[in-house]
Amino acid sequence: MKSDDATITQKKAAFKQFAPALIAHAKPEEQTWYMSMKNEDDMTIEGLEGDIEHGLADQLCSELRRTKENDMFEAKVKVLAEMVEHHIEEEEEDMLPSFKRRTIGSC
Ligand SMILES: [Fe+2]
Ligand SMILES: [Fe+2]
Repeated sequence: MKSDDATITQKKAAFKQFAPALIAHAKPEEQTWYMSMKNEDDMTIEGLEGDIEHGLADQLCSELRRTKENDMFEAKVKVLAEMVEHHIEEEEEDMLPSFKRRTIGSC
């Protein structure tokens, strides 16, 4: 069976495994890193942006738990994956290096 042929039940089961990992990663980040960025004068917006993006991902996860129709489920998963991918890229390439420079200094 190709992955495209997975049933909605299989997709929901995979999502059920993935969602807690996403939340387990996001909550400590919000409580530590984003909190610190919001306390830095020139990184407040980035900290808030992180909170907002996590909030949107949470919202989409909640919608996915209630979505029963296959095409809609697939479309929402695709949007969630694109959002998370963009978010991770931004964190790793922009936010984290900037935060390190401001808090640790350049080594
Ligand atoms: Fe994040
Ligand atoms: Fe992250």
